[in-house]
Amino acid sequence: MNICCIGAGYVGGPTMAMIAAQCPDIRVTVVDMDAARIDAWNSDRLPIYEPGLHDVVVAARGKNLFFSTDIDSGIRDANIIFVSVNTPTKSYGVGAGCASDLTNVELCARRIAAVANGDKIVVEKSTLPVRTAESLKRVLHANSSGYKFEILSNPEFLAEGTAMADLQTPDRVLIGGDITPSGHLAIQKLVNVYARWVPREKILTTNLWSSELSKLVSNALLAQRISSVNALSALCEVTGADVDEVTFAAGKDSRIGAKFLKASVGFGGSCFQKDILNLVYLCRHYGLDQVARYWEQVVTINDWQKSRFVGRMIDTMFNTISGKRIAVLGFAFKKDTNDTRASAAIDVCRGLLNERAQLAIYDPRVTPAVVFRELAAATGLSQSEIEQRIVCEPDPYRATHGADALAVLTEWDEFRHLDFERVYRSMKKPAFAFDGRNILPHSVMQSIGFEVQAIGKSLSTENAFSESLEKVLA
Ligand code: NAD
Ligand code: UGA
Repeated sequence: MNICCIGAGYVGGPTMAMIAAQCPDIRVTVVDMDAARIDAWNSDRLPIYEPGLHDVVVAARGKNLFFSTDIDSGIRDANIIFVSVNTPTKSYGVGAGCASDLTNVELCARRIAAVANGDKIVVEKSTLPVRTAESLKRVLHANSSGYKFEILSNPEFLAEGTAMADLQTPDRVLIGGDITPSGHLAIQKLVNVYARWVPREKILTTNLWSSELSKLVSNALLAQRISSVNALSALCEVTGADVDEVTFAAGKDSRIGAKFLKASVGFGGSCFQKDILNLVYLCRHYGLDQVARYWEQVVTINDWQKSRFVGRMIDTMFNTISGKRIAVLGFAFKKDTNDTRASAAIDVCRGLLNERAQLAIYDPRVTPAVVFRELAAATGLSQSEIEQRIVCEPDPYRATHGADALAVLTEWDEFRHLDFERVYRSMKKPAFAFDGRNILPHSVMQSIGFEVQAIGKSLSTENAFSESLEKVLA
């Protein structure tokens, strides 16, 4: 059997590497129109950082795992074609800012129809609005030269930073298909691939629409938990409750569960906001305005949490941060990834730059070029302004040297174990620490002399949040 995957990104690369590793008899080719990305997949410096990925790729590459820009050959040679292209929020026209942009997916369908030389199974791996398979079928059938295409939905549930472990032992694999004899046959073919390493009871099969919608719902429910906790973190700050103690106690209820209740500066990543907005758009499309407004609130609270964090920093630092050096520790949207897409750090940095702060940024995996690119796009500042206002430092000690404050925006483990005496000595006084991830040793730092602020905790006397500053940051 030959598998082709269109899209060599954060999903296509790791997912196909895992299939190749688990199924040595299957030839897996990952194709992409981005030649630089394909070159990187074929090099020693993979285009994405993901623990464990490098070893799996190196073991299979050149044997049964290939990366190529030859999309047409990839399509022609494959029995099963995964479509794993990006589906960002639409930035233009009808549904701008809410609906998913399906241009890339449709282009793939048209290409498959144009070059296919036989019957194919086409698998939706990208996250898509419910009923996208219907449009794909129409595009494929209207443009094919008489070949048959079966469409399957096989959404991906991996999280970045733990992608390889998630792929190795997934909670479930979901495969949706047509409830027809040929649909069942196609589902079975894909089930047989995953069944090489995933226990059969974890492979769920459904109709197409349930599968497509389950992906959006899973992400919406996960993001909703974070926004619920983040909303309550504000209540903790003014009442003296500690959000970590509250979520620990609540999470002990087996109906609630302990996972995904970590209060933070706000969720980021390329998918949560995009997928919820897509859900909101779908609900509006089907006339379900109340449902749309309910889910929209998850994103609204997330935005509020980020601006609330900036507001708290400004309040604490005597209502002005103009010209002050702020050490930003962490720029990726979560630890163990170099991905910065929709990272909370971008919005926080923009808020700080709006108040004319000087930023010293350190992240162990994000390159300065990516930091500058993200912040230029987010702020509209020119290259020279960016260079005057922002410096990227090679380690946390250089970043905090001479700083008025440090702000932890990504939960990298190394930030837990810094030499805080050393950091304190090199900072201006009072030395402020803002923990946007609740990972720092707060009492140790307080005993050293830091003035510490954390999410959902009232650690020091000054913890009020000024509503007026929220307006400044809006
Ligand atoms: P990505 O941007 O990292 O990768 C997508 C790749 O597709 C890019 O390299 C791009 O060049 C390529 N591409 C786009 N159009 C193409 C075309 N017509 N022909 C050939 N190549 C094309 O995106 P990603 O993070 O891998 O996400 C892909 C999909 O998976 C999205 O729908 C996303 O919502 C979903 N998803 C992502 C994650 C995640 O953790 N990133 C997890 C689950 C699901
Ligand atoms: C998320 C889902 O967890 C995956 O199942 C899904 O496949 C993926 O989206 C997707 O569709 O793209 P990911 O965004 O990679 O995965 O990472 P998460 O671990 O979910 O974290 C998302 C954001 O929420 C991060 O910014 C993280 O720091 C934040 N977060 C997470 C919290 O603030 N608190 C938590 O308790 C958990």
